[in-house]
Amino acid sequence: DQMTEQTPVTQTAAAKVPTLPDAQTVTEVKHYTDSLFSFRVTRPASLRFRSGEFVMIGLMGDPDPVTGRQKPLLRAYSIASPSWDDELEFYSIKVQNGPLTSKLQHIQPGDTVILRPKPVGTLVHDALLPGKRLYFFATGTGFAPFASLLRDPETYESYDEVIITHTCREVAELTYGRDLIESIRSDELMGELLGEENLAKLRYYPTTTREQSPKMGRITSLIETGELFADLGVPPLSPETDRAMVCGSLGFNTDLKVLLEKAGLREGANSEPAEFVVEKAFVG
Ligand code: A2P
Repeated sequence: DQMTEQTPVTQTAAAKVPTLPDAQTVTEVKHYTDSLFSFRVTRPASLRFRSGEFVMIGLMGDPDPVTGRQKPLLRAYSIASPSWDDELEFYSIKVQNGPLTSKLQHIQPGDTVILRPKPVGTLVHDALLPGKRLYFFATGTGFAPFASLLRDPETYESYDEVIITHTCREVAELTYGRDLIESIRSDELMGELLGEENLAKLRYYPTTTREQSPKMGRITSLIETGELFADLGVPPLSPETDRAMVCGSLGFNTDLKVLLEKAGLREGANSEPAEFVVEKAFVG
C-alpha cells in the first residue's frame, strides 16, 4: 500500500534486523543437577521490585517458517536476588523438551536474555499482617522467591523467627538452597547487611522424599504429624502468631493451603493482607 511504498528503504532494512527488546546480559551461570541451574543477569537501572516478586524472562523464539518473524518466548520467573542487589538472579529447572528451558539452559556469560521490567507477585511482605513467626514453605524451584526474601533485612526485622522449609526428591536438588543459607550465615557482608542478631532468627529445614537424608518426608506430612513443630521446638500453627508464604507445584500449594486454613490462617493479598500467601513456582 501507499504507506509501505513511501517508507524509506533504510528504515525497511533496519526493521528486518531482529532486535531484542528489553535485552539484559548474562553475567554468571551455575549448574546444580541435570535439571537445575541458576543464572545472573544485569539489572535495568530503572527496575524496582519488592523481594518475592517475579518478572517475565525468556529468549527470542525460532523464526516462523512462513513469515520468518521471531517472537519472544517468555515465562514468569521469581527474582531470586534481593532488591538491593545490582544484578538479578534466577533459579530454573531444565526441561529437555521444554520450549524455553531446553534453550535457556545453554546460556553463557555474555549472552542476552529478554527481561520485561514489570515485577508483580503475591509473595510480598505487604500481603501479610504482622506476626511473630514467618514460615517459607518451598518445593523444588519454589525456593527462588525465598532466596530473595531471605536476603532482605525487612524479613528479619518484622519477625522473631524465620523458618524456611525446602522439600525436594533428591539431596542434590537442595544444593542451591543450602548454599544460599550457608552464604547468608557465613558471608561477612551479608551478616553486616542483615544484622547478626537477625541471622539468629533464621531456621533452615530441608527434607527429601526419594533419597535418604537426615530428614525425610513431604512437609505436608511433617505438619500433619506435628513432627515439624517438634523438631523446631515451636508450637503448632496458629493465626495469632504465625504467617506463611508458600511456593511450589500446584498440587503442593493446594495441599498446604488446606493445612494452613485448617489451622485458622487465611489467605491474604496485596489489597487485603492476612496470614498466608501462595504462588506457583515456574515449571517447564
Ligand atoms: P514426592 O517425591 O513425594 O512426590 P516435584 O518435583 O514433583 O514438584 O516435587 C518436588 C518435591 O515436592 C518432592 O519432594 C515431592 O514429594 C514434593 N511434593 C510434590 N507434590 C506434593 C504435595 N502435593 N504435597 C507435598 N509435597 C509434595
